[in-house]
Amino acid sequence: MDKIIIINGPNLNLIGVREPAIYGGKSFENYLESLKRDFPALAIEYFQSNHEGVLIDKLHEVGFADYKGIVLNAGAFTHTSLALADAIAAIATPVVEVHISNVHAREAFRHHSYMAGNCRGVISGFGLDSYRLAILALTGN
Ligand code: DQA
Repeated sequence: MDKIIIINGPNLNLIGVREPAIYGGKSFENYLESLKRDFPALAIEYFQSNHEGVLIDKLHEVGFADYKGIVLNAGAFTHTSLALADAIAAIATPVVEVHISNVHAREAFRHHSYMAGNCRGVISGFGLDSYRLAILALTGN
């Protein structure tokens, strides 16, 4: 069974509670259950941390292991973190950058991603379904 891991960065533990007009009212845990039902042939793992170094450690751990791909929403670290960008460049497993909101329709500081050039691609603006689209991109399912 192919394995996919979804990695969420800072403040994304608050999806469903945090700024619902932007990020929606559904918790990620609920959404994850529906994703697992939609992709019964995939093993979908989930990891969340608010800490940059912990996210880097996780990328190193899964980036050379037996994963078909990594779906990464690095939250605000997207726009600030060279270290996460370097971690993505360093690992072997393909990464798709995702955002729930359309970062290009928001403040200018959200328009730049340090990570995007090291990712297989970027999906932004489709609500929680950005994760579903990223899994489709990684698996071709
Ligand atoms: C986000 C967009 C980022 O700009 C923001 O800092 C987040 C969430 C999104 O999923 O839309 O925390 O990555």
